[in-house]
Amino acid sequence: MTQFLKYVAGIQRRQMLYGTAATLAFLLVSRVVVARQKPVGKAAGGIAHEAGDKVDLVLDINGQERHLSLDGRTSLLDALRDHLDLTGSKKGCDHGQCGACTVHVDGRRVLSCLTLASMASGKKITTIEGLAGPDGGLHPMQAAFIEHDAFQCGYCTPGQIMSAVACVEEGHADDAAEIREYMSGNICRCAAYPNIVAAIEHAKVAMGRA
Ligand code: FES
Ligand code: FES
Repeated sequence: MTQFLKYVAGIQRRQMLYGTAATLAFLLVSRVVVARQKPVGKAAGGIAHEAGDKVDLVLDINGQERHLSLDGRTSLLDALRDHLDLTGSKKGCDHGQCGACTVHVDGRRVLSCLTLASMASGKKITTIEGLAGPDGGLHPMQAAFIEHDAFQCGYCTPGQIMSAVACVEEGHADDAAEIREYMSGNICRCAAYPNIVAAIEHAKVAMGRA
């Protein structure tokens, strides 16, 4: 009888240990799941923003000050397209792989899908809508793309043109091989590449960079 009681007590102890271990494992997994369901982004200055946190921004876009209150994790591309109706910059991949979203920030080409809007605050942003001069005439690169028929569906074209202007201004358009290399981040599914290269070679003359 005593041995039977010891046997029963042993089972109860094991069950309690198993129960405690299972409870701890459940709590641990729950915390991981909750943490994954609550993504955190980073704004300028490395300040972490949780979902729903708003930041007030003033963006200088195409020479105009635009005031916005956005979720701190909003990309520059989404700010342009969804909050400012500047839909010229295209969302191709949203992962930095196609170049369709290329804009200029302080004169340098950047992928707006990989740039937080808050990081562009205080900088000069130029989109395809602001590339033409104030008189509304076409930029030489835009004119060259039309003249050389450098697009088919046109989806990649705003990004191609913004990248092409920067490529010439960076001094990376000496010949066709260099243009192809420095434009390689801009994908054209219609494969209009020969015409795009021809347009850039033409435009660099008009831009005074030949
Ligand atoms: S949408 Fe930005 S690189 Fe494709
Ligand atoms: S013109 Fe169609 S993707 Fe380039």
